[in-house]
Amino acid sequence: MHNILSGRNVILGVSGGIAAYKAAELARLLVRAGADVHCVMTAAAREFIGPLTLQTLTKNPVAISLFNLWDEREIGHISLAERADLCIIAPATANCIGKIALGIADDMLSTVVMATRAPLLIAPAMNVNMWNNPAVQENIRTLQGRGVHIIDPECGELACGAEGTGRLADNEAIFERAAALLCPQDYSGVKVLLTAGPTREFLDPARFLSNPSSGKMGYCLARALQWRGAEVTLVSGPVALQPPRGVAHIAVASAREMAAAVEQHYEQARLIIKAAAVADYRPRVQLPRKQKKQAGPLTVELERNPDILAGLGARKGSRVLVGFAAETDDIITHAKKKLTEKNLDMIIANDINRPDAGFESDTNQVCILTAGSEPEHLPCMSKDLLAHAILDRIQKLLH
Ligand code: CTP
Repeated sequence: MHNILSGRNVILGVSGGIAAYKAAELARLLVRAGADVHCVMTAAAREFIGPLTLQTLTKNPVAISLFNLWDEREIGHISLAERADLCIIAPATANCIGKIALGIADDMLSTVVMATRAPLLIAPAMNVNMWNNPAVQENIRTLQGRGVHIIDPECGELACGAEGTGRLADNEAIFERAAALLCPQDYSGVKVLLTAGPTREFLDPARFLSNPSSGKMGYCLARALQWRGAEVTLVSGPVALQPPRGVAHIAVASAREMAAAVEQHYEQARLIIKAAAVADYRPRVQLPRKQKKQAGPLTVELERNPDILAGLGARKGSRVLVGFAAETDDIITHAKKKLTEKNLDMIIANDINRPDAGFESDTNQVCILTAGSEPEHLPCMSKDLLAHAILDRIQKLLH
């Protein structure tokens, strides 16, 4: 299946520190996201991890020696340097950083880095004293001044036994930064308020009414927005997902809590996306203590929750307002009605009866409706990809 980084050329440079073994996991994350990954290893890196590992994971030959530079395959690697969309060095040793800062190109990796015009992302990893050495810090500043992206090492126990800053940043964090560098920054500076997940409406401390929303679609949107440069506030009902890095996350439970959080943040937002599956009703009485079971049936009286989106639609000003519609029948008719009645700019309708769409699925198949245009049916795709497809379309409404 087409994936989020499909068709993107990434050079993964690996230099020689103990963290070199972690490059295998990073390569896997990039490949899994669809990137065409070409690894370049220094001689020292090969003391820590075999090229075969990276070659197997990336399904591409690993460039190791400058002295093969002139045979056909290695010339291919120089042309790769030109074609690369991104160059990552993870881990980057003090030596590797020093060479790049000084413009030394004496091995395959430093030569490829010199030859590429792609953005460069460097993830340093070294002993704490080396990291704090003024020469290394100056080299880092030099590189930053030239527009090189640095992902700072983490603090913790180091392989040498010392404690301090020097551990390679988390692979997920490197991957996220890489993905953001590969994305258009078309939401740069746009403040977005996003809601996701279900709400819970408690009857008593042990029981609640809810729905099967997993929050996946909303969280994919949050991540895609973050990658594309937006400032995201994510108001989320209870889900089993980690909020994406760099996103301001507000955890809520009930529809009324969600409404209060939205109220606090809607004013500053330029774009509001309501992907949450809000419960329309709550028990009229919420008991402070657990209700004991009794013989015979139990009747619970429900009362209406506020319609958060409709409330926003009534006073949206120049904001762009996007809703979702979860439907089981007459999808377009119902979604159109919500688009008009809630005064939205766009509504994304999905058929929650389909096994490959809706609440808990990793994929989704939606129809996008905007005022005044024909409904656009999108093919079934991963929620990750769909998030970007939705953002491509919202982008047109922002201008
Ligand atoms: N929504 C909301 N507040 C509610 C109910 C829904 O903000 N109390 C928002 C949802 O986040 C979604 C959109 O309204 O973006 C449509 O939600 P949906 O559940 O599909 O429809 P409802 O408006 O609740 O209508 P119905 O349940 O009758 O289909």
